[in-house]
Amino acid sequence: MNRKLIIAVDGYSSCGKSTFAKAIARELNYFYVDSGAMYRAVTLYCIRKGYINGQNLREEEISRSMDDIHIRFRYNPDIKEYETYLNGENIEDEIRQFEVSSFVSVISKIKAVRQRLVEIQREIGMMKGIVMDGRDIGTVVFPDADIKIFMTASEEVRAERRYKELQEKGVRVEFKDVLSNIAERDMIDSGREISPLRQAEDAYVLDNTNMTVSQQMDWFREILNSKAGK
Ligand code: DC
Repeated sequence: MNRKLIIAVDGYSSCGKSTFAKAIARELNYFYVDSGAMYRAVTLYCIRKGYINGQNLREEEISRSMDDIHIRFRYNPDIKEYETYLNGENIEDEIRQFEVSSFVSVISKIKAVRQRLVEIQREIGMMKGIVMDGRDIGTVVFPDADIKIFMTASEEVRAERRYKELQEKGVRVEFKDVLSNIAERDMIDSGREISPLRQAEDAYVLDNTNMTVSQQMDWFREILNSKAGK
């Protein structure tokens, strides 16, 4: 297909959205945008500033800070991937830590945070030829996206994948904590008032519980071909 598309990939936590979205971007030579990394970057900023105390948030300060938070994605040729920068600092590793994961869903509920990040995401989208993954990409950020994918997989399988990933990175964490973090994030992401995680009516649903990445790519190519044939 010659026309450059916007492809939205939404779904539950640890479904393999980023692996799949990156594979699509690589195949089409598109820009991959990890919108979750943006919410994680804001969360890290708030942790460092002391705006989070247990489940208590200093919401006013957080909302006011949005103008001081600058998030960029820069390509790292050594690993051939984009990395997340917060106010000029590479925070790619830090935002994947468990502490950030355990607060990111509550930070993502704040209206001013969502408004600002959606604004930035739409600016990025203007260049087209992008694959963006997240929770509200096909429903709120790009309701007119060319292809919308909604991903899901069993909770156990998602926790196993995430646990393995954390272990490979040397993060010490118990499986039961990973499982409960995933369940809790799903609940908060789906239940929040603003832009909850939900499947867009025109989304293609992909349950990848028993699928390899290569099988998922075959599934995607069929959709792409059917679109090109129209
Ligand atoms: O995709 P991820 O697990 O890195 O996302 C981290 C959190 O960010 C997730 O629990 C919910 C939030 N998020 C969101 O609210 N909207 C998005 N578009 C992307 C992520």
